[in-house]
Amino acid sequence: MKRVIIDTDPGIDDALALFLALRSPEMRVEAITTVAGNASVENCTRNAFRVLELLNPEPRPIVAQGAARPLEREHRGAEEVHGSDGLGELSRYQNPDGSPRYPEPREGPAPTHAADLILELIGRYPGEMSLITLGPLTNVAQALLRDRDTMGKVQQVICMGGAVLVPGNTSPTAEFNIATDPEAARIVFTSGLPLTLIPLDVTERVRISEEALRTWVEPLADPPAQFLLDCTAQVIAFSGKFEGFPGIILHDPLTVGVVIDRSLVKTQPLYVQVETRGEITAGMTVADRRPFRAEGRPNVEVAFEVEADRFLTLFMERLCRRS
Ligand code: BDR
Ligand code: CA
Repeated sequence: MKRVIIDTDPGIDDALALFLALRSPEMRVEAITTVAGNASVENCTRNAFRVLELLNPEPRPIVAQGAARPLEREHRGAEEVHGSDGLGELSRYQNPDGSPRYPEPREGPAPTHAADLILELIGRYPGEMSLITLGPLTNVAQALLRDRDTMGKVQQVICMGGAVLVPGNTSPTAEFNIATDPEAARIVFTSGLPLTLIPLDVTERVRISEEALRTWVEPLADPPAQFLLDCTAQVIAFSGKFEGFPGIILHDPLTVGVVIDRSLVKTQPLYVQVETRGEITAGMTVADRRPFRAEGRPNVEVAFEVEADRFLTLFMERLCRRS
């Protein structure tokens, strides 16, 4: 069983990724650390607790809140996709008696910063800990700036981010997590940590349609199933209107999936740099694919191929698992 820390900005697909992780016996989620990204860090923390309070995992991961904004930039968010609360406007749902279907979570984060908790856990389990990042890399960069030696004891860092040979989703060339905090991403990419990138090149090929989601989830008719339908409704409407596909792209769940089963993707070692200054290209992940690499040694394993159907089956089975 792998020990993991999930650094995340829930976020609808982040919430689905947390479902997958917490329902997967191959991993033990030691901590969930939150970062500003899809929504404010306070909303992201609240959303992490929403998932925990629905699923009640044993043992319960520690939750620590982290950076409220990128290292050198302002927070900008993705509320147009994820809703003003980061989970598709959950406050609009009510129980038959008029009470909110999703009341405020009862719990709050640990009194420690996410970067410190990441360091503490990696230090406690040297060589054992997988760090999964599903949001901007601000917390991880802060942990590296505080204590590079301890971060060097991480077993692996699996990062959802980047667009290597495909267009971006936030700008023509940049993917959201990297574009939100390119300076942090650069620190992580140049850190020498064992880094695997799960970029849009593979995540955009892993989609679930509204119809498939309903077919799997509706018959369960319990609170976790209702939550899955409620929190995805807005993003499904958004993608149907603007992308011609009423469904969800499973960026973050696939990233967790790769830690469960590495054979779901094929990777290639590459030298990848993050553009931080470009007026049009900030946040671009630039891979040096020249056959004779003059400028750098491979620093990242980049996923370019994915067994999408095999992942989707795993994902839906775990989402629908009741034990
Ligand atoms: C990434 O950006 C966020 O909006 C998603 O949660 C995912 O982590 C995809 O670009
Ligand atoms: Ca995310």
